[in-house]
Amino acid sequence: MRLDVVTIFPEYLEPLNVSLVGKARARGQLDVRVHDLRDWTYDRHNTVDDTPYGGGPGMVMKTEPWGAALDDALADGYEHGAHGPVLVVPTPSGRPFTQELAVELSERPWLVFTPARYEGIDRRVVDEYATRMPVYEVSIGDYVLAGGEAAVLVITEAVARLLPGVLGNAESHRDDSFAPGAMAGLLEGPVYTKPPEWRDRGIPEVLLSGHHGKIARWRRDEALRRTTANRPDLIERCDPAVFDKKDREMLSILGWRPGADGRFGRNPEAVEE
Ligand SMILES: C[S@@+](CC[C@H](N)C(=O)[O-])C[C@H]1O[C@@H](n2cnc3c(N)ncnc32)[C@H](O)[C@@H]1O
Repeated sequence: MRLDVVTIFPEYLEPLNVSLVGKARARGQLDVRVHDLRDWTYDRHNTVDDTPYGGGPGMVMKTEPWGAALDDALADGYEHGAHGPVLVVPTPSGRPFTQELAVELSERPWLVFTPARYEGIDRRVVDEYATRMPVYEVSIGDYVLAGGEAAVLVITEAVARLLPGVLGNAESHRDDSFAPGAMAGLLEGPVYTKPPEWRDRGIPEVLLSGHHGKIARWRRDEALRRTTANRPDLIERCDPAVFDKKDREMLSILGWRPGADGRFGRNPEAVEE
């Protein structure tokens, strides 16, 4: 996979040399190219921003440097269709970044990121490139960062670990929180490792039983417990067909019951523990 990042803070992307992403780069699984937007400015002050039309606080990033930088990055290897690039625009006003979107992006061969600063980029830049390639405007959460570089790091790490051969154990993301399939999009429950006793704290007996069926059931119950507590919205949205008899029993114990459409909701009569 190829990744291009255009930014006014190339050094902010240094973590892309570390850990999983860094190793994937070293192995040639990821071709990361970081470009300094100021290399496409031609005035004495390397200006990338200007005052907003219509007035108001803050500055807006100018069209010309972005257009010139993106044209050059894209010219080097431009392809259409399935092999072509997609533009990933970090913005708090974008669609939420989810595991599902990470999977979708991991299937593309080339991502071009435009992390902004100030009040964002003149809208005409996104409109212009949307005529040439798919554009994903993506938010990493309901808060406002000072710039999009941290969002690029977040998205890159979530996408890179899904690429074939990047994680040591290909099964690792099968049981992750939000994973579709067997995990049904639930949160993952608690995990434990050696030693078996630490500061008078043991580990759940069942994990030592060697009984795969019981361990799987315990993990599933813990996933349900954690998801109902921390992310009830995930249970509410879940297709009820993913819940087996034991899941339903556990959900009932946790104070949830199916509504008229079969989807689970909190039982208003349930007593809070
Ligand atoms: C100060 S923010 C601009 C916020 C903008 N005025 C708004 O309210 O939508 C500057 C840049 O940081 C990045 N950014 C900030 N919050 C983000 C978020 N939650 N997700 C993704 N990118 C974000 C975007 O690149 C954004 O253009």
